Amino acid sequence: MEKKKYAPIGVFDSGVGGLTVVKEIMHQIPNEKVVYFGDTARVPYGSKSKETVTKYAEQIVRFLEQQGVKAIVVACNTASSYALDILEKETDIPIIGVVKPGAKCAVEVTRNQKIGVIGTDATIGSKMYPKYIETLSPKAEVIGKACPLFCPLVEEGMWEDPVTDEIARRYLVELIDSGIDTLILGCTHYPLLRKTVQKIIGEQVTLINPAYETARELKELLTKENLLNDQERGLNTNIHQFYVSDGAEKFKTIANMILKYGILSTKVVQIENY
Ligand code: DGL
Repeated sequence: MEKKKYAPIGVFDSGVGGLTVVKEIMHQIPNEKVVYFGDTARVPYGSKSKETVTKYAEQIVRFLEQQGVKAIVVACNTASSYALDILEKETDIPIIGVVKPGAKCAVEVTRNQKIGVIGTDATIGSKMYPKYIETLSPKAEVIGKACPLFCPLVEEGMWEDPVTDEIARRYLVELIDSGIDTLILGCTHYPLLRKTVQKIIGEQVTLINPAYETARELKELLTKENLLNDQERGLNTNIHQFYVSDGAEKFKTIANMILKYGILSTKVVQIENY
C-alpha cells in the first residue's frame, strides 16, 4: 500500500485537450507523476457514437492499468459523458471524470441560474451536464451548444486566429442573447480558446474550466484513499510520461505549448491491441 502512493496517475483524452487538466493537476498536486495518453489516431471523439467512444476508453483504461497507475482521470468530457459509468464498473482503480466537477463549479458560480455549456456533439447530446446541474440546483436553466470545429482548431494550434474568431462567433451567437451569466467550457480542448470565447461572449459571462475542480476532487480522492504522494520531487520535472496513438512529434509540439516545460519524449502505442 505504501508503495502504491508513488505510482503515477493515468490521464487520457482524445488528443491534447486533456493536458489542460494535467496542467491543473501539476499545479495543485505537484508531487504526483502523470502517465498521459492522447488518442491522436482517433481524434475527434465528439462526432462518434457512444459504442465507439466506450470501446476506445476501455482500451485506454486497460493500457493505463498496465502502466500501474493508482488512479485514472478521464480528462475528456465526451468519454466522461458516454463511458464513465461503464468504466467505473470495469476497473478496480479509482476513476473520475470531468463533467461532474464542471457542473458543480458552475452551480457555485452562477447568480441568475442561467448556465451555458459548450462541448462536442456527443457531450451536448448526452445531456449529462443538465442532468448533474439539475440534481445540484433544480432551478437552474441549462443552455447547451455543440461546437464541433473547436477541437480540430485546437489540435492544429489555432488558438488565436481570425478563422477561429469567425467560427466562435457563429457558434456563440445564440448564447450571447440568452442571458447566461456562466459558461462551462465543456470540452477539455476549449480552455485553450478561452481568450477567443471570452472576447465573443463578453466579460459579463464567467467562464468555467472544469479542470480546476477535477484536480481538486482528485486530490481529495487520493487523500481519502491514502494514496497522495508525499515524496517531493524537487527540481526534477522530467517524471511524467506521454503516450499517443499517432503523430508523436506533432503532439509534442502542441503539448509543449500547453505545458510550459520541456516534454522530452512522446511514445506511440498500438492502442487497438489493448
Ligand atoms: N477533449 C474532448 C472532450 O473533452 C474530446 C474532443 C473530441 O475529441 O471531439 O470532449
